[in-house]
This record gives sequence, structure tokens and C-alpha cells, in this order.
Amino acid sequence: MTNHLDRTARHYLYKAIQTFQGGIIIASHDRELLNLMDEIIEVTSLGVFKYGGNYAAYQTHKNITRHAKEAQLADAKKALSKIKKSIQNSIEKHEKRQRHGRALRRANDQPKILLDAMKNKSDQTKGAHRIRHQRMLKNAEDKIYSAKLEVEINDEIHIALSTTKVPPGKMMVDIEELYFSYGNKEIIQDFSLKIQGSERIALIGNNGSGKTTLVKLILKELKPDRGIITIGTERVSYLDQHVNLLKKDLTILENYLHLNPDANENDGYHSLANFLFKNISAQKYVRNLSNGEKLRALLACTLLSRTPPQLLILDEPTNHLDLDSIKSIESALKNYQGTLIVISHDHEFLKSIQIEKTLHAPSFLNNKR
Ligand SMILES: Nc1ncnc2c1ncn2[C@@H]1O[C@H](COP(=O)(O)OP(=O)(O)OP(=O)(O)O)[C@@H](O)[C@H]1O
Ligand SMILES: [Mg+2]
Repeated sequence: MTNHLDRTARHYLYKAIQTFQGGIIIASHDRELLNLMDEIIEVTSLGVFKYGGNYAAYQTHKNITRHAKEAQLADAKKALSKIKKSIQNSIEKHEKRQRHGRALRRANDQPKILLDAMKNKSDQTKGAHRIRHQRMLKNAEDKIYSAKLEVEINDEIHIALSTTKVPPGKMMVDIEELYFSYGNKEIIQDFSLKIQGSERIALIGNNGSGKTTLVKLILKELKPDRGIITIGTERVSYLDQHVNLLKKDLTILENYLHLNPDANENDGYHSLANFLFKNISAQKYVRNLSNGEKLRALLACTLLSRTPPQLLILDEPTNHLDLDSIKSIESALKNYQGTLIVISHDHEFLKSIQIEKTLHAPSFLNNKR
């Protein structure tokens, strides 16, 4: 419900909620708003779960559970290797016994009927062992599988995106005395800005204040009325929530290959797995993805290309995304090392992606106002 609201509108809504005397039920992905609640109810495919306390308390609880699940996975892996070792030992012991039996047979100093009985027994034991071993292995592997499923749902993206690095001090965006109006509606007046090196900047401001217009000017989709805009790199990517760059009738992998013609299928699978589209999930059709998955897929195709952007511009990327999707986008952006300009009304998101500087419209767009 707060998706498109600017800070002022959000502020009034938060205040009204805090002072309201009655009970309130809110369905939202807005973490600031959720932090004002006394109880969090999570609706998942596994059921509905209730947590006492606000969103931060819920988050702490989830982190503890996650660590427990990770520990469970590590234990399950250890148990499997222990079982494998003990199976190996038992096979070796059995083979030793069989070798002994064959030696006795060769020595010919035992009655044949006894030797046959021994061999029969040994074959039976071997069969029984094999069945028991298979059951033990299957059990241990099942445990790993289910532990993995639980851990992977909350996986984060960890990948060094060193090719997005920008030399410190390099002038990335230089805007000098910019003026822009739509017809006689003035939007930007006498605005200057320098962005150097791998700065991470947020543009925030009321709806209609001109943030998207400024981005369009930086992208040269619009022409300034006056002033100069210089961009220090050819490698610029602009991603909005519509993720138009992805072709919806192709799979994620096909899109990757389409956007990265130099790459082969293996590169594609590898890159997409790094962005949590593992194995066959890379073969999902884009039209079937959620909004969050689409954005993550596009980030994978863009950030893991041979020439990834050094200037990345995001226009309200988290609108309409659920919290898990926002978290995976946050973890992708934390790995990005280039210059970042983000338009967003979501304070928690901006904090999480380590924004260093915030420009507030309209004051930054209009020196005379
Ligand atoms: N092509 C256009 N022609 C005329 N006016 C426009 C055009 N595009 C935008 N505007 C107007 O210019 C102003 C700034 O629009 P812009 O989209 O840059 O705002 P914004 O800060 O991105 O807003 P929001 O937070 O709602 O996305 C608005 O009043 C808008 O109605
Ligand atoms: Mg906008």
C-alpha cells in the first residue's frame, strides 16, 4: 500500500498509525511500517505463522532459525560422509573374509560342504549388507536434501563482481548548470552534480518532483534546455521495475545468451546459479517469473556480462516486490562495485545497499525554489 508513496505521504501515514487507538491489520512489504506493528503474521506456502513483536524481532527470530538450519545441513553432510566411511570399512572387512574363504578352498584342507555353507552365508550377508547400506545412504541423502531446500530458500548472493570496479576519483557523472522543462513547466533549474569513483547515491523526493526526469537526462533520453552532462563511462545500465530488457517468451538462460552473445551455455548456467537460479530453474520462462525474480534475472544477465555496467541506475527497483525478493536484490547489489544511482522511497532498502549520499528533490533539482 505504501509502494508509490513519497516520504512526506509515508510520514503522515506512519504518524496516523502510531497514534491510532484501535486495532489495525496491515498487509505490506514496507519494513518501516512493519516495524510499527506488535505482531507479524507470515503467510507462506507451508502455512500461516505468527510471531510476537515487530518486524525487527521477526527478523531476529528468522536469523536464529536460519543458523539452526545451516547447522543442520552441515551435520547432515558430516553424517553422510561418516556413513560412507563405515560402509567402505564393512565392504573391506567382508572382502577380507571372502579372500580368506577362497584361500581355504585353494588349500583344500576343509570339507567342501563346510566351505559351500560358508560361501552361502557370506553371499547372504553381502546381500543383506548391501540393502542396509543403500537404506542408510538414502536416509542420509534425504536429510541433506531437505536441509538444503530449507537453507536455499533464504540464500543470499555472494559473488565478487570485480569487473564492475571503477577507479577511485574517476569522474563518472558531471552535471553543470542544468536546466530542463516540459513545455513551460520547469522541472530542473541550475542543477550541478559531480559523482566520482564508485559512489552510491540515492535520489529521493516527492512524487512528481523530477527524479525520473533527471535520470532520463543522464541517459541522454532527454536533452537539457541548458547546461552540460558528461558521463565518464560507456558502460551504463538503467533498470526500472518493468525490466523491459528481458524477453518474456524466452527462458532466463536464453535471455542471458541473447544479452551476452559471447557467452556459451555453461557460462549462462554458472552465472545464473550465482544469482540463485540453480540448474533447471535457469530454464524457467520469463513470463512465469515473479517481479522479484525478473529483476534478479536481469541483474544476473547485466552484472555478469563480459562488460558489466560501471554506472548502474535503478528507478524504484523494489516497488511491488515481496520481502524475500527485496532481500535477494539487496544481496546482489551489495556485490556490485561500480557507481550506483538509486531512486527509492524505501529507507530500509537504501540502508541495506550501503548508500553513502542522499539527494533530496526538489531542493537539489531547483536551486531557486
Ligand atoms: N513527458 C512529459 N511531459 C510533460 N510532463 C511530464 C512528462 N514526464 C513527466 N512529466 C511531469 O514532470 C514532473 C516530474 O516527473 P518525474 O517522472 O520526473 O517525477 P518523479 O520524481 O520521478 O516522480 P515519481 O516519484 O512519481 O516517480 C511531473 O509533474 C510529471 O507529471
Ligand atoms: Mg519516477
